Amino acid sequence: MRRLLLVPLVVLALLAGVTAAVTAAPEGQPTGRTDTLFPQQGHPGYDVRHYDVRLDYDPATNRLDARTTVRATTPQRLKTFSLDLVGMKVTSVRVDGRPAGFRRDAQHLVVRPRVPVTGGFTTTVAYAGTPQEIVDADGSTEGWVRTDDGAIALGEPVGTMAWIPSDNTPGDKARFRFRITVPRGVQAVSNGDLVSKVDRGAGSTWTWRVRDRMATYLAMVAVGRFAVHRSSMTSVTGRRIPIWSFVDPTTGRSTTARAALPKVLRFQEKLFGPYPLTSAGLVVDAASVGYALETQNRPFYPDSVDSATLVHESAHQWFGNSVTLRDWHDIWLPEGFATYAEWLWTGAHDGRTPAQRFDDLYATPASDGLWSPAPTEFTDSADLFGEPVYNRGAMTLQALRERVGDTDFFRLLKRWAAVYRQGNAGTAQLLALAEQVSGEQLDQLFADWLELDGRPAGY
Ligand code: ARG
Ligand code: ZN
Repeated sequence: MRRLLLVPLVVLALLAGVTAAVTAAPEGQPTGRTDTLFPQQGHPGYDVRHYDVRLDYDPATNRLDARTTVRATTPQRLKTFSLDLVGMKVTSVRVDGRPAGFRRDAQHLVVRPRVPVTGGFTTTVAYAGTPQEIVDADGSTEGWVRTDDGAIALGEPVGTMAWIPSDNTPGDKARFRFRITVPRGVQAVSNGDLVSKVDRGAGSTWTWRVRDRMATYLAMVAVGRFAVHRSSMTSVTGRRIPIWSFVDPTTGRSTTARAALPKVLRFQEKLFGPYPLTSAGLVVDAASVGYALETQNRPFYPDSVDSATLVHESAHQWFGNSVTLRDWHDIWLPEGFATYAEWLWTGAHDGRTPAQRFDDLYATPASDGLWSPAPTEFTDSADLFGEPVYNRGAMTLQALRERVGDTDFFRLLKRWAAVYRQGNAGTAQLLALAEQVSGEQLDQLFADWLELDGRPAGY
């Protein structure tokens, strides 16, 4: 009896403590929760609905002249709020059309509107300069990456702050429009659908519209000389999906990858449900980064596209881009699912099956880097794209499949993509959905595979 009374009291006290911890902020300042790995990124006090990004870029000088309008809402009353932006010179900030005060504070652009904002508000930032390339903790580069004939903007995990003043955290998805003016004869590709390309004077303006809510880290612009390929495919729903692909001619032929793309997407639709986005394609651009990236609609490949990578980045359109993590500490969700999608593809095309892959990996020594740190337990962002995240993440899904059986497992993949379509979800939501679909208690399995340091025993 006493225990029963105590438990709710303790829970209440804990809740109160937690609430105080996440909402403590001076009056008029945004409040809320920040990212576990990147506490400086993102601003919980408001929710962005739309980014209108206008870029004027000259590949010859690498100079960017930009104006971004951010439409957001807040349930609070904000005397000041911040956007993430590094480098670039800000020349003016307007809130709801009126000049606002602003200052730079490390990677934050701190805005002080004339009057506090509440409900919907619009912020327009004018800025210019040479956008930065950013070096991550693991030594890889992102942000605004210059190429031989232009540049490519890549944003995982944080690089988008080099060129869009943004709420740069995956939990705040929004719609986008990009209007990119480049010298005539140069192409400008981005996410979403090509709305128009207008030639005026010595320049061309390419307008791309992203109607599916997108996380900032998936934003991409590539400027340079590309061969442009337009086609389409038919979704399992009967919908026509336009395909726009941009291929840097210096990277060699892309015929195989372009022919494979609709086949891969159709294969994945059968397993994961309808393709979740308005359009598809790929961007091949010779850039000195050592990775491909699932930039929304149109993944980026730094070189000719191999089949495993094509399958991986395509799967991310469901897992990562449509269903998006909320906190970077859940990176195993997109990477584990995309890696598992590779296993499904090779298994269905005369290669090793997921079970064989699992067994081979499980046989690696307990001292192997695969086993530590556990997928959700790392605290150093240098481990974001480490082996445990990809391979142990995919093994988690195979362990889950063996536990619940094929019927429930494949039902879960489709439900996960459907329930959280264009939204955000974390590991806790996956566990809950897996338990709901299978009727089994799976917390131990999730803890073994995601949290335990070292190789889980008995699988
Ligand atoms: N998400 C990418 C993939 O498809 C990897 C991105 C790596 N990013 C980085 N900054 N190293 O696996
Ligand atoms: Zn990936």
